[in-house]
Amino acid sequence: MTGVARLLGEVAHIGVDARGGYARPGYGDADRELREWFVGHAQARGLDVHRDRNGIVWAWWRPPGSSGPAVVTGSHLDSVPGGGAYDGPLGVASAIGAIDVMRARGLALQRPIAIAVFPEEEGSRFGLACLGSRLLAGGVQAERALALTDREGDTLAEVLRRDGLDPRHVGRDDETLAGVGCFVELHVEQGRGLVDLGRPVAIGSSILGHGRWRITIDGQGNHAGTTRMSDRRDPMVAAARTVVEIRDLARGIPDARATVGRIEPVPGGTNVIASRVSFWVDARHPDDLVTAALVTSIRDAVTRVAAEEGCAAALQEESLSPTVDFDHGLRDRLRSALPDAPELGTGAGHDAGVLASRIPTAMLFVRNPTGISHSPEELVEDSDADHGAVALADALEAVAGSAADGSI
Ligand code: GLV
Ligand code: MN
Ligand code: MN
Repeated sequence: MTGVARLLGEVAHIGVDARGGYARPGYGDADRELREWFVGHAQARGLDVHRDRNGIVWAWWRPPGSSGPAVVTGSHLDSVPGGGAYDGPLGVASAIGAIDVMRARGLALQRPIAIAVFPEEEGSRFGLACLGSRLLAGGVQAERALALTDREGDTLAEVLRRDGLDPRHVGRDDETLAGVGCFVELHVEQGRGLVDLGRPVAIGSSILGHGRWRITIDGQGNHAGTTRMSDRRDPMVAAARTVVEIRDLARGIPDARATVGRIEPVPGGTNVIASRVSFWVDARHPDDLVTAALVTSIRDAVTRVAAEEGCAAALQEESLSPTVDFDHGLRDRLRSALPDAPELGTGAGHDAGVLASRIPTAMLFVRNPTGISHSPEELVEDSDADHGAVALADALEAVAGSAADGSI
């Protein structure tokens, strides 16, 4: 009906992860191919496409008679390792579908519409979630971002240069933001809220505060066969004990989440006691003060455990995104456009959350029958994708068609 499933079918072969799902790191080949796919569809519809100095791709539709700041939608095309097909691309494909729906309706719009595709939303390559929107909004200093390195040791500055961007021009971009009245991001739901409610689409209410911390434990690299068990300073053992403590600490705090999903031993040999282990903690809680207290407890735990194992530990914050309550005025407008849609919060981070510090933002969620995300099992039924794109068209139309009061 809206063609969203067909659009997603066109990119189903791009960036397939041999271990299952998709691996589409920011600025990589798959990401570039997806970007070209998006640009092709935007240009075929006569949208005015350009890539800004932070690598965000914009596609503008300026209906006759429209003026002022745009109503922007969109999402991202990068994925986590082993990610699903919908986290990000559903929002981009639905944005194209929604523009098709709005054009077919032919109603007058007072505001322009734009689609934005944000790079490195997952932070899977450079460790900083929502990198593109964070740069745009000034949520990270350009110098700090440009010095970040990926797993190959390449800096963001080098990778951007190879991808056709000039690192000297990266950073906070108030001029671009001044052209954005509000941002409405459609996203696959990453839990079971809509399944339990038996509804296809929800309006987002809030994003759980979240952050990432890198823990490094240094020990003594040595031989697996010749080093007596009593003589070891093994950072892997300290890391393993800490991971269990992190789980237990989070379990002791209502509504807290803490995850260790990435661990890197150095040098990483079967018959080698590691000299260093790095691992990353993702911690989340609705109250940012509780997240901070949890991280302090984690720091205390890893310091103690590392000392007991004859090792030394350090903990470093990589990113922090406070809890976001989406803009109430914008939510009211979405609620009047979509009176049957329930409101749901989410535990996942989004560009709409980062941009909320600068402009009114809102989200729509589309039912995911498995309730699973960041996994190949993530799913959206074709008919729900249609519901989502039509709901997005309704929402954008409600905001862009009634914006004469300049309140966006
Ligand atoms: C992004 O999906 C996140 O919540 O980390
Ligand atoms: Mn994600
Ligand atoms: Mn996402």
